[in-house]
Amino acid sequence: MLIMQFKQFKQHYVIIAGLIFISSIFTDIAFSDDSEKQALTIDLSTFFRAARKVISDNQSLINDATKGDKGLSGEVVIYQAKQNYQSATKSEFAEPDDTQGGRCRKAILEAVDEVMIQAQPLINEQGKGFKGFLPAVFAAKVAEIFSKKMTNTAFIKLTAPKNYVRNRKNRPDTWEHNVLESKFKKANWSKGQSFSERGTHKGRPGFRFILPEYYGQSCLACHGQPKGERDITGGKKEGGVLGELGGGISVVIYD
Ligand code: HEC
Repeated sequence: MLIMQFKQFKQHYVIIAGLIFISSIFTDIAFSDDSEKQALTIDLSTFFRAARKVISDNQSLINDATKGDKGLSGEVVIYQAKQNYQSATKSEFAEPDDTQGGRCRKAILEAVDEVMIQAQPLINEQGKGFKGFLPAVFAAKVAEIFSKKMTNTAFIKLTAPKNYVRNRKNRPDTWEHNVLESKFKKANWSKGQSFSERGTHKGRPGFRFILPEYYGQSCLACHGQPKGERDITGGKKEGGVLGELGGGISVVIYD
C-alpha cells in the first residue's frame, strides 16, 4: 500500500515537473517574442520623432511667404529624418525587409512620403505665411496612414492627456489614459521613461508601448498660458507650463 502511494506520488511528480518544464519553454518563447516587439516599438517611435523633428526644424522655411517651392519633398524629409534618427541612436535606420519590423519600417517611410506629397500645394504656396503645417499635424497624419497600412499588425499614435487634446483623433484610449495619469504624471516617475506591457488595443491582444513628451519653451507659445487665449493657429492655449507632461507617443504591435 505504502509502495503504491509512493509510486503514484512519483508519477505525479514526474508529470508536474514535465508541465513546469514545458510551460517554461512557452514563457521563454513568449518572452523573446515580446523583447523583439519592444525593440520594434522603440525603433518606430524613435523614427516617428525623428521625422517630426524635420517638420519642426523647418517651420520658418515652411512659413516663409516669399518662397514658393520649399524643396521639402518626401525624399528630403525622409533623408533628414534618417539623419535625425542616426544622431539620436548612433545607428542607421535599418532598411525595410520581409520581417515584421521591416514591413513596419517600410510603412512608416511610405506614410511620411505620402503626407509630404499631399502637403506640397499647401507648403509651396507663395505669399502665404503661417500654414498650420505643424509637427503635430504632420505626426497625426503619418500615424493615421501608417496605422491604416499596418492594420492588425501595428499601430502608432500621438496622444495627450485627456484635458489637453485638441485633435479628437488623438484622444487617449483607456490604457493610454491610465498610463498618462497614474504613471507619467506621478512625481516619482523618472522623466522620459517609457512604459510598456502586454495588453489589448481595439479588442486585439498585443504589446503596448507609450513614451511621454513634455512641453519645452517653444511649445508654450501655443500650449502655454494664459489658458483659453487664442494661439497663432486659432486654437485655445491649454495653460501648460514648462516641463509639464504634454503628450505621448503610443505604439502597439499586435500578436
Ligand atoms: C504653433 C502652435 C503650436 C506649437 C508651437 C506646438 N503645438 Fe502642439 N499642437 C498644436 C495644434 C494646433 C495641435 C493640434 C494638431 C492637430 O490638429 O492634429 C497640436 C497638437 C499637439 C499634440 C497632440 C495632441 C492633440 O492635442 O491633438 C501634442 C502631444 C502636442 N501638440 C505637443 C506639443 C509639444 C510637445 C510642442 C513643443 C515641442 C508643441 N506641441 C508645439 C499647436 C502647437
